[in-house]
Amino acid sequence: MNDQPDLPPPPLSPHRPLSEFYAAPAARQDFVNELFDEAAPDYDWVSGMMSFGRDQIYRREALKRAGLTSGMWLLDVASGTGLMIKAALELGVDPANVIGVDPSQGMLAENRKRNPVTLLEGKGEALPCADSSFDFVCMGYALRHVEDLGRLFGEFKRVLRPGGKVLILEITRPTNPVVLPLMRFYMQQLVPRIGWLRRRNKSTAKLMQYYWATIEECVPPSVIIAALAASGFKNVKRTTSNGVLSEYVAGR
Ligand SMILES: C[S@@+](CC[C@H](N)C(=O)[O-])C[C@H]1O[C@@H](n2cnc3c(N)ncnc32)[C@H](O)[C@@H]1O
Repeated sequence: MNDQPDLPPPPLSPHRPLSEFYAAPAARQDFVNELFDEAAPDYDWVSGMMSFGRDQIYRREALKRAGLTSGMWLLDVASGTGLMIKAALELGVDPANVIGVDPSQGMLAENRKRNPVTLLEGKGEALPCADSSFDFVCMGYALRHVEDLGRLFGEFKRVLRPGGKVLILEITRPTNPVVLPLMRFYMQQLVPRIGWLRRRNKSTAKLMQYYWATIEECVPPSVIIAALAASGFKNVKRTTSNGVLSEYVAGR
């Protein structure tokens, strides 16, 4: 008989510790929070630049494709300045049925200016929400910023009602050998330079450098799909646009 206590699985980090940005893994979340606090006023501009202005159409279409409808209770994890929420409200979701969670006070302050919804400070790995309280959970472009994918997906499952859905949008490292250096140049060099000329805000350049590093170092889609399935999600699917924008959809 095995009388060893069940040990929790080891943390599944989305990328290796990026020691060129922070001294130790324990310093990662504070570094990320500071980065987003400082870049918050420019974040919507960065988001538009990275998608050639198509980011809001894409968020709206992805939410619709994943099955978000107007009567649902929605949780937006890593809500940032609220671009996923804005897209959901455009689809007719009632603002009274929406909660956004994010650890960056700067991003939440921008979000509050734009969206009449409940916004809470918190992390995806420890959601400040009751069990089985949402029909739909979404997370836009933030998977790379959590500490442990297993804990994140466990939390998604806990707060979803049976039959609920999760949608994760993420940028995936391009496999095409022509696209990869072009994208690296665009995100690491061009966008930071235009950002500097625009507002003389150094934090936008730092955000873009870090953003690219996390994209290049992120675990592959197969690991994300396996982690969702291991957390008990059903019908886990990934679809892509241009092999770079990934939509992960799964059911509770
Ligand atoms: C690139 S922004 C995405 C914002 C928004 N979801 C969107 O679609 O534009 C990443 C967000 O993740 C947040 N974040 C960082 N660490 C997090 C964590 N551990 N849990 C949840 N959100 C986190 C940041 O504060 C930031 O607002």
